[in-house]
Amino acid sequence: MTHPRTAELLDIALEAARRAGVLLRDGRPADLGVAAIKSSPIDVVTEMDIAAEKLITDYISEHRPDDGLLGEEGASTEGTTGVRWVIDPLDGTVNYLYGLPSWAVSIAAEKDGETIVGVVEAPMRGETYQAIRGEGAYVNGQRACCRPAPAFEQALIGTGFGYLTERRIAQAAVLNGLLPRVRDIRRGGSAAIDLCDVGCGRLNGYYERGLNPWDLAAGALFAQEAGALIGGRPGEAASTELAVAAPSGLFEPLQELLDELGAWHD
Ligand code: IPD
Ligand code: CA
Ligand code: CA
Repeated sequence: MTHPRTAELLDIALEAARRAGVLLRDGRPADLGVAAIKSSPIDVVTEMDIAAEKLITDYISEHRPDDGLLGEEGASTEGTTGVRWVIDPLDGTVNYLYGLPSWAVSIAAEKDGETIVGVVEAPMRGETYQAIRGEGAYVNGQRACCRPAPAFEQALIGTGFGYLTERRIAQAAVLNGLLPRVRDIRRGGSAAIDLCDVGCGRLNGYYERGLNPWDLAAGALFAQEAGALIGGRPGEAASTELAVAAPSGLFEPLQELLDELGAWHD
């Protein structure tokens, strides 16, 4: 049976993500522009990223005032309960800016450093992805499951690119080595959705260098609970250096090849 605290955290994550999703979907100004740039001129934030993070952190703080918070747009509090919320209020900002549908709200709850609840809300797909550690992954209430590992050359692999030119040069070189060896590559524009797509069997695997905790936390738990393995370089945990997600049988050779290709460094 689900621990009552875990059930409470899931309910809060679901409702905060639902509300932020409605705000982002229905409140997107027709003339939406860039509010600020971050690490580079193509790493942008809109007024809607900021408004969605405020909505989410206000909602969580109202219900769990003593928990810690880590949000991409600046939320950062320690908390005293051992629970920390890891929030990407809008994952796929560039898609959102251009009116492309692949963007999501990503909310995870960690207990003592381990992600125990993950919710990814993708309003333009009409889909909510949710997972509790040890209790499976669900999309709109239906159990989600990875696709069995195909032969390596039949694998459809998602990835993403960072915002810094130096990193992109290195990422392009990795792609050069990987693309001829697989079925194809997808660059969807939302790491959280990419990870959920692995968990739903819509991608065979996914990798990316340079993810932040808010990109990874909820989607990685979903993918894992749907049967994927998650890691970084061989033998290491997923991190900013490298994150790889795929079912066993594909995960190992993908991780090995990415390591050989130097996907973990710029
Ligand atoms: C980005 C997206 C993108 C990934 C980048 C992320 P943002 O997040 O997840 O797919 O390739 O690494 O930074 O900036 O849209 O929240
Ligand atoms: Ca993100
Ligand atoms: Ca974001």
